[in-house]
Amino acid sequence: MTSLHGKIALVTGAAGVLGLATAKALLEDGLKVVLNDLHSEKLNALGGQFKGDVYPAAFDISDYDQVVLNVQKIQGEFGNVDVLINNAGILSNNKVIDTQPEEWRKVLGANLDGAFFLTKMVLPHMKAQRWGRIINTCSLAGKTGGLTAGTAYSTSKGALQSLTYSVARETAQFGITVNGIAPAYVRTPMVMEQLTEAQRTELLKSIPVGRFCEPEEFAHVVRFLTSPLAGFITGEIIDLNGGLHFD
Ligand SMILES: NC(=O)c1ccc[n+]([C@@H]2O[C@H](COP(=O)([O-])OP(=O)(O)OC[C@H]3O[C@@H](n4cnc5c(N)ncnc54)[C@H](O)[C@@H]3O)[C@@H](O)[C@H]2O)c1
Repeated sequence: MTSLHGKIALVTGAAGVLGLATAKALLEDGLKVVLNDLHSEKLNALGGQFKGDVYPAAFDISDYDQVVLNVQKIQGEFGNVDVLINNAGILSNNKVIDTQPEEWRKVLGANLDGAFFLTKMVLPHMKAQRWGRIINTCSLAGKTGGLTAGTAYSTSKGALQSLTYSVARETAQFGITVNGIAPAYVRTPMVMEQLTEAQRTELLKSIPVGRFCEPEEFAHVVRFLTSPLAGFITGEIIDLNGGLHFD
């Protein structure tokens, strides 16, 4: 069985709440972690809170040229990526008539294009070593059309789910698993600041577990899917929604 110790994970959106919790969990499991986010200031501000080997890599995942350059740099200076966590994303709550084309492109760029670009770049190494893990941060919105989330966001997450299935099918024979996690309403600024108090109160009534999800609970699922004994799970989207939606 493949040990995780010393393997390299790339976590996008690592300066955000879920990315940070994920990076910390993977470091605890002995992986080395590339921390990606848009700006180096955001990554630098994370400071010395990591116990383990980290490599900050600030770049915009929605820009293909930047992805190519930076993945090559990571490979040369830190090593090949064995575990890819496509987690960066932006929320938009506008429904279709209110969604501007620029907003549509920006949300699709960050939430979908970035995952495709990075997957394309890291797969050759994973295939060659016949082991790899790719985990995509999807969303309940991708399955429901968005309870509070808007059209561009829900569409981007639905497409990310399809990308997960497609790449899982293509790569299973190479020892690579590709899965998604569909969280809903984690206690993050996305939920605590971008939703109104009234929306939050209403939501809590419809979440059977009766609370919002904690970032560490998300990171725990990443950890599980990354682990060697999860090698028979691929093409799965794991719900993390406190019973709000069953499928
Ligand atoms: N918070 C929730 O309840 C919730 C629910 C479902 C899904 N999600 C998904 O979880 C993921 C993480 O969300 P979060 O709550 O931690 O949000 P967050 O805003 O705290 O973190 C997202 C991070 O992604 C980064 N980012 C955005 N665009 C980028 C780009 N083009 N290139 C590189 N980095 C970029 C941001 O700078 C930010 O640090 C997102 O994909 C989000 O859609 C969150």
